[in-house]
Amino acid sequence: MKLTLAAVASILAVTANAATIPRDGAITVPASSSDVKPIGDEKPFKIREGPQVTDGTGAPFASSLKVQLASKAGAKCMYDMNTFVESNLNYGSDGGLYAEMIRNRAFQSSNDSVFGVGKSDAMGSGSLTAWQPVGQSKLELVQDEPLSKALPVSAKVTCDTKKGAACGLKNLGFFGMPAVTGETYNASFYIRADKEQTVKLNFGLYSFDLTQSWVDETKTVTVGTKWTPVNMVLDSVKAAPDVNNVFAIKTEDSIESFQINLVSLFPDTFEGTVVRKDVAEKMLAFKPKAIRWPGGNDLAGHTIASRFQWNNTIGPLVDRPGRLGNWQGWNTDGLGAVEMYNFIEKLGARLIVGLWCGSDSNGQAVPVDDLEPYLQQQVDFVHFLLDTEGKFAEMRVKNGGPQKPYDVQAFMIGNEGGLKPSVDYQTRFDKLTAMLKKDFANHKGFDEIDLIATAPICVPTGYKYRVDLLNQPIYGTPSDFISKYRMYDDASRSNNTVFYNMEFAAINSGLEADENIWFGPGRLHHSILKGSLAESVFILGMENNCDVVRGAAYAPELSNESDDRASESTPGLLEFDTTKVVGSTSFLMQSLISSNRISESIKVENSKALEEAQVYVSAGVDEKGAVIVKLVNYSEKSMPISIDVGKKVGKPVCKKIGGEGPLDTNTLQKQEVKTEDCQATASGESISLTLSKWSFTMVKAAASQ
Ligand SMILES: *[C@@H]1O[C@H](CO)[C@@H](O)[C@H](O)[C@H]1NC(C)=O
Ligand SMILES: *[C@@H]1O[C@H](CO)[C@@H](O)[C@H](O)[C@H]1NC(C)=O
Ligand SMILES: *[C@@H]1O[C@H](CO)[C@@H](O)[C@H](O)[C@H]1NC(C)=O
Ligand SMILES: *[C@@H]1O[C@H](CO)[C@@H](O)[C@H](O)[C@H]1NC(C)=O
Ligand SMILES: *[C@@H]1O[C@H](CO)[C@@H](O)[C@H](O)[C@H]1NC(C)=O
Ligand SMILES: *[C@@H]1O[C@H](CO)[C@@H](O)[C@H](O)[C@H]1NC(C)=O
Repeated sequence: MKLTLAAVASILAVTANAATIPRDGAITVPASSSDVKPIGDEKPFKIREGPQVTDGTGAPFASSLKVQLASKAGAKCMYDMNTFVESNLNYGSDGGLYAEMIRNRAFQSSNDSVFGVGKSDAMGSGSLTAWQPVGQSKLELVQDEPLSKALPVSAKVTCDTKKGAACGLKNLGFFGMPAVTGETYNASFYIRADKEQTVKLNFGLYSFDLTQSWVDETKTVTVGTKWTPVNMVLDSVKAAPDVNNVFAIKTEDSIESFQINLVSLFPDTFEGTVVRKDVAEKMLAFKPKAIRWPGGNDLAGHTIASRFQWNNTIGPLVDRPGRLGNWQGWNTDGLGAVEMYNFIEKLGARLIVGLWCGSDSNGQAVPVDDLEPYLQQQVDFVHFLLDTEGKFAEMRVKNGGPQKPYDVQAFMIGNEGGLKPSVDYQTRFDKLTAMLKKDFANHKGFDEIDLIATAPICVPTGYKYRVDLLNQPIYGTPSDFISKYRMYDDASRSNNTVFYNMEFAAINSGLEADENIWFGPGRLHHSILKGSLAESVFILGMENNCDVVRGAAYAPELSNESDDRASESTPGLLEFDTTKVVGSTSFLMQSLISSNRISESIKVENSKALEEAQVYVSAGVDEKGAVIVKLVNYSEKSMPISIDVGKKVGKPVCKKIGGEGPLDTNTLQKQEVKTEDCQATASGESISLTLSKWSFTMVKAAASQ
C-alpha cells in the first residue's frame, strides 16, 4: 500500500467514525504497487479496468402501481443541482480542466511529489519532474537570476561543445501530449543566457524520441542577460498517432548555456477561457446552477502556508507563486480566482465561494487570537468579488474580472471543520461572519447570500441570514443513499435553515460488506448503475423538500483516468484522459435532473406505498407550468405504472436512463448506460408508462388547453 499522510489521516478519521464519512476524498490505492512506475518511464500507463465488485441482484417486488399526485403544487423550490470542482484532486485542474499541457512548467513541483503530496511547501524547492534533456545537453535546476519573486527556480541547459548537436530540453506533459490536426497551440516561454547572443531556436511537438515532428517552428531570438519572453502560435499540425509526445525547445547553434522558465503550451480552449474545451462542454451539458470553488481540502491546504490565497491567484502568471498541492504535485494557481469564476459565469452558474477560517486539512490551526489577519484576507476576497466601486472593484476589473460584481450564491466557511474538535469551528465561524456582516451591512443583497457551515454550529434565534448549520459530506454505499430519501421530510420550515449537500457520491458497491468503505474491495473505481440510481433517490428526496434544500453537488467532478495513480478519489462525474472525456452514469442522471428543474414541488400522496415497491418519485411543475415527474425503479422487475396527475395534460416527453444490470457502468473504454427516449401516453388526467428495471425515468407533460 502506498499512502500519503493525508490518506492515513483520513483512514483514521473514517475508522473512528464509520457512520459519517468526513473527508471529501481519499487516496485510491493502486491494485498492486509493483504496477507503479515513475512518470518519465516510457510507458505503459496502467489503465483502470472496471468496478471492483462481484455481483448483485435486485430485490423482487409487488404489483401494478399508481402514482397519486396532490391536486395543487405545493412549496416554491430553491433546489439546485450544483457541482464541486476540487482543485488539484485527480489532476482535475492542473492536468485536467486547466488546459495547460506543460507539466511542472515553472519547475515548482517538488521532486518527491510526482504522485503524492511533496514534503516541502517552500517556494523554490522544485524539481525537473516531467523534464528531460535533449541529446547530450545537461539539464539542471538553478536559482540564479530568478525570473520573478514568485518563480525563483529555472532550468539551465548546458550544451555539448560539438556544433550541430541539438541542445535543449523536453517536457513529457501530464500523461502524454496529443498533437491534433486543425488545432492551434500557443507556445510561450522565457529565456536568458549569461552572454548576449542570437540563436535560432526550434520548438514544437515531437514524438517522444524526437525523430518525428508534428509541429515545429523556428525562431531567431536575441537571448540577452535579461529574461526574454518568446511567444508563438503553432498551427499546421501533423496528427500524431498517439499521445507519446513531447514539447521541446532546442537549438543547433553554438551556445554555451541558457536558462528557461515558465514554459506554456495551450491548445484551443473553451470560448476564450483557459479551460479544456471537451471537459468544459460536458460541464455545460450538466447545466449546473452553482459551482463550489475553491474546495475542499484544496481551500484548507496541506499546510497553513499552502492554503488557497485568492490574491496569489490573480495577475500575470510570472507573479503567481502557486502552492503545494493538497493532493499531489504543485498547484500552479494558473486556473485562479478570475479564470475560474469567469468560466463558472460563462456556464451560467452562480458561485459558491470557499472562505478559509484558520485550519488546514491536517488539523493544524492558527490560534483564535492570531486569526485577524487571516480572516481579513477572506474579507478582502469578498470585497474583490462583490464591490461595485473602490480599490477592490478596480482590482477585479484590472485583472480580467467583470465590471459588475460576481453573482455569489453562498459562502462556505472552511472545510470539514467538525473533524477536529480542537479547531473550535464555532468561534471561527462567528468571527468571520461578524467581520463580513460589519463590512457589508450596507451592501445591497448581501443578506441573500447563504452561509454554509462545515461543522455543527448554533445560530441565535432571529438570525437573519439563511444558513446551513452543518454541511456534511455524504459518501456511502447505494443503500446509504436509499435510506436518505426522507432525510429532510421533517426538517423545520419555520426558521432560516437551508440545507446543502456539497459533497456526495456512492463510492462503494455495498456488495462486499466492507468495514471501511474507502479501502475495502467494494470501493468503486467507476459509478455503477445501482449506485447512481441510489444517489438519484437521494436527489428526488431533496426535490420533494425543495423548499428547504438549497443545493447538492456530487464530488469529485473530475477524474483523470490516464493513469491509475492520477485518480485519488473515485468515482468521478467526468472521467477523462488526454484526449477524451466521458460522463459517468451519475453524470447522465444528474444532467437529466438539472435539465428538467422544478420550480414548485407537488406532493406524491402515496409515496410510502411506492417506496415499498422500490419505486421512488419526485414531482413538480416547471416555470412554464408543465408537470415533471421523476421516477427511479430500484428493482429487477418492470411493470406498467400510471401517474394520476389530477389535471388534463398534453403528450408527455419521456426520457430514461437504464441498463441491463446493476453493475453497468460508463468508462472511457465502454459506455453501457445511455439516455434514451421512452414511451409514455396521456389519457385524461393520467399518464401511463413502463419503468424498466434499474432505471431513472423523467416524464414531462404540459397542462393541456
Ligand atoms: C529531491 O530534492 C532534495 C532536496 O533538494 C534532494 O536532497 C533529493 O536528493 C532529491 N531527490 C531526488 C529523487 O531527486
Ligand atoms: C492564443 O494566442 C492567441 C493569439 O495570441 C490569443 O488570442 C489566444 O487568447 C491565446 N489562447 C490562449 C488559451 O492562451
Ligand atoms: C496576499 O495577501 C496577504 C495578506 O492578506 C499578503 O501577506 C500577501 O503578501 C499577498 N500576496 C500578494 C502576492 O500580494
Ligand atoms: C432550525 O431548523 C433546523 C432544522 O430543523 C434545526 O436543526 C435548527 O436547530 C433550527 N434552528 C433554530 C435557530 O431554531
Ligand atoms: C490528465 O492530465 C493530463 C495532464 O493534462 C492531461 O493532459 C490529460 O488530458 C488529463 N487526462 C488525462 C487522463 O491525461
Ligand atoms: C422495475 O423494474 C423491474 C425489473 O425489471 C420491473 O419488473 C418492474 O416492473 C419495474 N417497476 C415498475 C414500477 O415499473
